[in-house]
Amino acid sequence: MGTPAFNLHAFRAAQRAAPLSDFARELFAGLSLGSRSISPKFFYDVAGSALFDRICELPEYYPTRTEVRILTECADEIAAQIGPNAEIVEFGAGSLTKVRLLLDALEAPKRYVPIDISGEHLEAAAARLRADYPHVIVQPVVADYTMPLVLPSRDKGAGQRVGFFPGSTLGNFSPDEALAFLQLAHRLLRGGGLLLGVDLVKDPALLHAAYNDAQGVTAAFNLNLLRRANAELDTDFDLGGFTHAAFYNSPMRRIEMHLVSRRAQTVTLDGQRFAFEEGETIHTENSHKFTVEGLRTLAVKAGFRPAAVWTDPDHLFSVHWLQAA
Ligand code: AVJ
Repeated sequence: MGTPAFNLHAFRAAQRAAPLSDFARELFAGLSLGSRSISPKFFYDVAGSALFDRICELPEYYPTRTEVRILTECADEIAAQIGPNAEIVEFGAGSLTKVRLLLDALEAPKRYVPIDISGEHLEAAAARLRADYPHVIVQPVVADYTMPLVLPSRDKGAGQRVGFFPGSTLGNFSPDEALAFLQLAHRLLRGGGLLLGVDLVKDPALLHAAYNDAQGVTAAFNLNLLRRANAELDTDFDLGGFTHAAFYNSPMRRIEMHLVSRRAQTVTLDGQRFAFEEGETIHTENSHKFTVEGLRTLAVKAGFRPAAVWTDPDHLFSVHWLQAA
């Protein structure tokens, strides 16, 4: 209703006018859908990453501090599962902070391979890590970890190859995408395993608070997407014309974040005008919540053998050790 049909001609013309960035292409395609959306991976420019770091410190946002607590308190048990001389492969490594908890606990970790799409960030963070862990070979790989990728070959005498995917980033994927990722991870980690952190299903009031914080940092994080589009692409989003909305979709077991148009307005991208009605939204993120059993069932489908799980006393968050035999 009121949404223009997907304009294939304009889309193709936009593609021919290359080089359009991934962001431009995906935003154009996402605005052209009847139900508008954009991938949450575009949240994380420099400003967005800084806002996410602030979210992690918010009193309402329990996932980060709860996962850090689990990794710290269960470090010895985790280290016992992983064993000596391990090689850690982190998917989407960001600022390389959580892996320090693992490196501190493991017996003689041999190599650390952080994979991230942002190269500059990764090299700087890798240099800091090398300074603090001189005995660990830090070998960053700049790649999109949702695509098949080749890892550096394993060292002779290395222990298990262990995937590390903390932060409930898995929750950003649809169930199909999550299965596809786990299958890909299983192929990379054969003979070792995956240490996976996922957020748990809980009282919707707690979830609502975590994504609608009192200081409005999550709202700023969501709206930063439009600021980024205006800065990097040729868009003219009115930042005051959209508001943050986050709610728990209980049948789908996920938090949804949207940007809601406060009034009828049009936005231009690459010469194409997109009309918004009042209340029309751009769906910017899904954050799926899991049950321990549900996650283990999904892992089994991907070929893993769930071997151990650690949670906090309030059952807010879970860390899984999944063996890839
Ligand atoms: C980084 C995807 C795990 O879903 O909780 C935080 C991102 N979005 N607040 C999450 C996020 C809004 C976060 N993940």
